Amino acid sequence: MSDMGASSTPRLELRRISKTFGLTKVLKDVSLDISPGEVHALVGQNGSGKSTLIKVLAGFHQADPGGEAFVDGSPIDFSNPDAVHAAGVRFVHQDLGLVPSMSVVDNLALGHGYVTALGGRIRWRDQAARAEAALDAIGYEVNVNSLVDNLQPVERTAVAIARALQSAAGDMSILVLDEPTATMPNAEVERLFEIIRNVRNQGVGILYVSHHLEEVFELADRVTVLVDGTLVATEKASNLTQRSLVELMTGGVVDRVVERRDRALGETLLRLRGVGGAELAELDLDVRAGEVVGVAGITGSGREELCSLIFGSRSRTGDVTIDGAALDKLRPDRARRIGLALVPANRLRDGVVIGQNVRENANLASMKRLAPGGWVRPRADRRQALQIVRKMSVKTPSIEASIEALSGGNQQKVVIGKWLQTSPRVLLLDEPTQGIDIAAKAEIHHLVDEVAAQGVAVLVCSSDEPELERLCDRVVILRQGRVVGELRGDEIRTSRIVHMSLGLTA
Ligand SMILES: Nc1ncnc2c1ncn2[C@@H]1O[C@H](COP(=O)(O)OP(=O)(O)OP(=O)(O)O)[C@@H](O)[C@H]1O
Ligand SMILES: [Mg+2]
Repeated sequence: MSDMGASSTPRLELRRISKTFGLTKVLKDVSLDISPGEVHALVGQNGSGKSTLIKVLAGFHQADPGGEAFVDGSPIDFSNPDAVHAAGVRFVHQDLGLVPSMSVVDNLALGHGYVTALGGRIRWRDQAARAEAALDAIGYEVNVNSLVDNLQPVERTAVAIARALQSAAGDMSILVLDEPTATMPNAEVERLFEIIRNVRNQGVGILYVSHHLEEVFELADRVTVLVDGTLVATEKASNLTQRSLVELMTGGVVDRVVERRDRALGETLLRLRGVGGAELAELDLDVRAGEVVGVAGITGSGREELCSLIFGSRSRTGDVTIDGAALDKLRPDRARRIGLALVPANRLRDGVVIGQNVRENANLASMKRLAPGGWVRPRADRRQALQIVRKMSVKTPSIEASIEALSGGNQQKVVIGKWLQTSPRVLLLDEPTQGIDIAAKAEIHHLVDEVAAQGVAVLVCSSDEPELERLCDRVVILRQGRVVGELRGDEIRTSRIVHMSLGLTA
C-alpha cells in the first residue's frame, strides 16, 4: 500500500450492508473500507456472500434498507448501476457479465460507448482496433470479431478485465475483481498481478476475491473474511498465515498434505492416437484403470481444448477408444453410453442448465435410469438429488431451489456430482475446481482419489498446477499444441510444471 496516513479518505467505504433473499439473510451488516492504493482481499467459503456483496455494490442486487456506500467520501446511490459507474467503480464479475451472443468488440463497447464518426456513425474498423489494443495491453490475443460464446474461459476473463480497465486511471476509483484467476495458469496470473499493481500504484483501491490463498498473500495489504454473510475479521495480510486465515474461514484447519499412494493400475481404458484440433497437434496418450493423469499448459497450449476434443463436443482428428470401443467424432451422446463422463470447464455454457432447479440439474445425466420408459420416478429422483447434494456438501436451501440461486462454487459441485453419479469408466475433468473454496476442493480431490481407487481412468486438464501436483500419478505438459514433457510421482512439482509450461528447461 502506498504510504498514506490513516487520515486519508478511503476510496470506498461500505457501511452496514445487508442483503436478504426470500427468507435468508446472506449478508449481515457488512462494513469495510479500502484506502487509496490498497489491495483489499475478500475471502470466504463458497456461498459466504462475496459475490453478493459485490453485486449489491454494483447495483445489480438491491441491498436491505439501512446500508450506505461512499466513494472518496461522497455517498453514492448504489441501487443505481449508472451512478456507481459514474463514481468510478469498475467490476470484473465472477460470471463476467458479458453478453455471449455478442462479439468481443461489442462487449468492450458496452458501458464504454462506440467510436463514432461525425453524425454518430460507428467506425467499426477503429472500434475493432481499440478492442485489440485493450486486449493486447493485458497480454491476450483474441479474435475480436468472434462471439464471446465461442471463446475459451480465460479469454472471456481477459475481455472482462480489458473492459474494466478501459477507463483512464483518473476516472477509476475502485476496481473490483471477483475470482479473475479461476481459469488462469500461474504464468498468466503473474501477468495479471503486474497489471493490478500498476493500477494500484496510481492510487486506485482494489477489492480482490480469490480462493487461491497464495494469491491473497502475494497481493493483498488487508484481508476481510466472510463466514455465512458475517464479517468475522479484517486483518493486515502480514499479521496472517495461510493456516490462520483458513482457520478464520472455516473454523478449522484443512489438511493440505496428502501422501501419494502407489495406486494399482489396470488395463488401458482411455487411448488417444493422433488426437488433434484447434491448438492441439496430434496427441498420443494412454490412461489406465485407476490412474490419474494430468494435463498442464498455458493458454493456447492445447490444454483448454483437449477434453472437449476427446468427448466429441468439438471436431477433431485422430482416434479415441474407451476400453477398446472406438468413439466417433462429434458423438457426445455415444461417449456417455460407452462410459465416458466430462465435467466441462465452462460451467455456465455446458455445465448447468439455467432455469432448472438443483434436483433437475443434479439428475440430468442419469435420466435414463431415473425415468425408465420416459416416466420419472419422483422418489428415486428426489433421493438421488439429495444424495448428490449431501455427498458434495452443496450449500442450497433445498433441492428445489433454482440453480442460479447457488453460489458459483456450489453450482460446480452439482455438475461434478451429476457426472460421478453416472458411474463412468473414464472421467474427464476440465478445470474441476475452478471457483471452489479450499475446503470443498479438498473434498473433491478426495472424491477423485476414491473414483480412481475404484478403477476409473481419470484425465484432469487444469490450469491449477498445485491441483495437478495433489491429484496426479503422471502429468503431461503441453506447449504450442505438443507434449514437451512428462512428470511422474515425486517429480510432479508445481514449480517444475510452471517451468516446463513456459518452455524453460526444468
Ligand atoms: N439470486 C439469488 N437468490 C437467492 N439466493 C441467492 C442468490 N444469489 C446468491 N444467493 C445465495 O446467497 C449466498 C451467498 O452467495 P454468493 O454468490 O455471494 O457466495 P460467494 O461467497 O460469492 O461464493 P463462491 O465462492 O461460491 O462464489 C448463497 O447461499 C447463495 O445461495
Ligand atoms: Mg462468488
